[in-house]
Amino acid sequence: MTDTVTKEQLAAAADALRRGELVAFPTETVYGLGADARSSAAVRRIYEAKGRPSNNPLIVHISAIADIEAYADLSRSFNPALVRERLQKLSHLFPGPLSVVLPSSPAIAPEVRAGGDTVALRVPAHPVALELLRTFGGPVAAPSANPSNYVSPTTAEHVRQGLGGKVACILDGGPCHVGLESTVLSLINPTPQVLRPGAVTRDQLEGALGCTVDGPNKQADSELVALLSPGLLEKHYSPRTPVVLNSALTSASPLPERIGAILFSPQQLSFTPTHTVLLSSSGELAAVAAGLFSALREMDSRGLELIVVDTCEPVGLGEAIMDRLLRAAAR
Ligand code: TXA
Ligand code: MG
Repeated sequence: MTDTVTKEQLAAAADALRRGELVAFPTETVYGLGADARSSAAVRRIYEAKGRPSNNPLIVHISAIADIEAYADLSRSFNPALVRERLQKLSHLFPGPLSVVLPSSPAIAPEVRAGGDTVALRVPAHPVALELLRTFGGPVAAPSANPSNYVSPTTAEHVRQGLGGKVACILDGGPCHVGLESTVLSLINPTPQVLRPGAVTRDQLEGALGCTVDGPNKQADSELVALLSPGLLEKHYSPRTPVVLNSALTSASPLPERIGAILFSPQQLSFTPTHTVLLSSSGELAAVAAGLFSALREMDSRGLELIVVDTCEPVGLGEAIMDRLLRAAAR
């Protein structure tokens, strides 16, 4: 069927979804923890398994963008014709690492929307995810398959470690190629807004839509805000070991003995790390994104006292990388 998953495994996973159980599956971004998005009881299991606050809505995965109006009610948009036109202009980005927020249709369980009246929809670009969605034949609500607030999983083994006993099955599609969660784009208001940066960049969206796209925080550059006041950022995506950005270290920073270093390219450091992970030999951001979460998890398993992480310009894919790192470093 696909390289790593048999037809029988896919059929069993689809049956589990039909029974209201949880199925972990690979996407190109991170692994998802899926349940039937039309079933309140099934979706409640996701929140329980993750320990996720019930006010944080879930992304719904569908197999084709042509199905979007089965789950989004565009007639409730601020301008249905314009929103349809915008979706058309974005159509080349589906399947892909992009979720769009739209007015929800009543077909989606209220628990998915965390009580609101909008829904985030995405078509994942992973053969196993697409086969699962087609075999199941319905919408699948799926957050990242990790306990709430921990680092998102980019391999089936990561899912096993965090949620192993809590899912009916885990489909193993190998390591995720993108490695960071999807870009979340709201089309609710006249000016589209990126709510979460991801591999589909704001530049790409503005180019496709031919209009301004707002970023998550209009007031100030997020890196600057975080370095000045890390407490302002919501802590998220965090390993248990404290994380600090290399750029925030000064010669006066007191450092513990056992330090892990995650580097984006080869370089000289101001300290001697106990353990180093080099994500790219040339600072290539796609490689950094693909390996970052695995590297954070690996560091977390080594009994270190501090993880020092490299930084990059918060532009293009670098915006998503720095967004995740600033959250991981927030205390
Ligand atoms: O790449 C991804 O998006 C992965 C894979 C599994 O598809 N999923 C994922 O889900 O990262 P999760 O639950 O970890 O993150 C969902 C994000 C949250 O930031 C949530 O607040 C936002 O999407 N979101 C979901 N529904 C929304 C809505 N109706 N309005 C605004 N934000 C929404
Ligand atoms: Mg998540």
